[in-house]
Amino acid sequence: MTSDIETRCRALVRDLELGQPEQVRNVTPLTGGVASDIARFDLAGKTICAKFALPKLKVAEDWHAPVHRNAAEYAWLQFAANVNPAGAVALFGRSPEQHGFAMEFIAGADVYLWKDALLRQAPDRDEVTAVGDLLGRLQAASAAPGFETAAFHNRDDFRALRIEPYLTFTATVHPDLAPVLNGLAEMLYAADAVLVHGDVSPKNILLRGSGPVFLDAECATMGDASFDPAFCLNHLVLKAVHLPASRDRLLGSVETFRAAFARHLDAASGAAVEARIARLLPALMLARIDGKSPVEYLSEASRAIVRDMAIDLLQTPETRLAELVGRVRARLDQLQPPSTTTA
Ligand SMILES: Nc1ncnc2c1ncn2[C@@H]1O[C@H](COP(=O)(O)OP(=O)(O)O)[C@@H](O)[C@H]1O
Ligand SMILES: [Mg+2]
Repeated sequence: MTSDIETRCRALVRDLELGQPEQVRNVTPLTGGVASDIARFDLAGKTICAKFALPKLKVAEDWHAPVHRNAAEYAWLQFAANVNPAGAVALFGRSPEQHGFAMEFIAGADVYLWKDALLRQAPDRDEVTAVGDLLGRLQAASAAPGFETAAFHNRDDFRALRIEPYLTFTATVHPDLAPVLNGLAEMLYAADAVLVHGDVSPKNILLRGSGPVFLDAECATMGDASFDPAFCLNHLVLKAVHLPASRDRLLGSVETFRAAFARHLDAASGAAVEARIARLLPALMLARIDGKSPVEYLSEASRAIVRDMAIDLLQTPETRLAELVGRVRARLDQLQPPSTTTA
């Protein structure tokens, strides 16, 4: 496997004219997703990160999806670099022949993955404000007149990777909630107002001095403004259940995030997007318990608590995130006293 990815890194360097292929050294695979290979390597004193669509899939018909997503991811990263040149990951080109692209490998003493900081319960550096602010900035830029949407007509990929596993499948597990879950699914599929990243999760956000860097935009599509915020907030709420010692901070960070994000919207659309986030968030919470991509770190007892809270919030929805968080907090305080220390 390593030698295969090494060959591809060398071919990428040759195609993009980044250097001599034989200068590629120390090719090291990073955690690979299901449809991509990702690796770092050294090239003439620089470290480069390369991401490729997987070379072979079992079924030929599926070939289109990963190749197409590699192009969409690169287009998303280019968009982010245009909006935020000082903070985004530097890009070194994409090779359609290799179905891959090269970017700066972000590393250094001040660099960390947000997920690692959350799970370590490291001191709060107000990452949530920076992430909410950047997401709002990116969304606002994508809603501006003249935004080029050509690379992002990917609603069928988005349905296969997000809507189906999270919402439609969960609706089959909870038939009484099917109308609301399928209604959210239809709303997300139909929408095209803003550019959606599709995987704004702490595991895909690197922090460095110049702020957050969003990686892994394979699901990028035109879509609804509520998706990325709800998807990211879901991670914070689930971690609030998992980490009692961080609970207050994590639940408080929902409002911090909302405020930082909403600064980029006018008041009327801010309220409308918040209401959609407040409907979608409990659906995504339930999806991480009973959907196709269940959360790996929660105990059986915690999963039952999340399921109950999510069902309650879907049956009696809120329009304001502060009210939603108030209900989550009350429920957790009742069931899991905040004094509990974390494992
Ligand atoms: N440009 C980069 N610089 C440094 N680390 C990176 C870079 N791109 C990805 N990574 C690291 O590799 C991991 C996997 O990359 P990602 O794009 O998220 O691929 P996957 O689709 O496998 O999740 C990320 O979580 C991050 O830790
Ligand atoms: Mg990832």
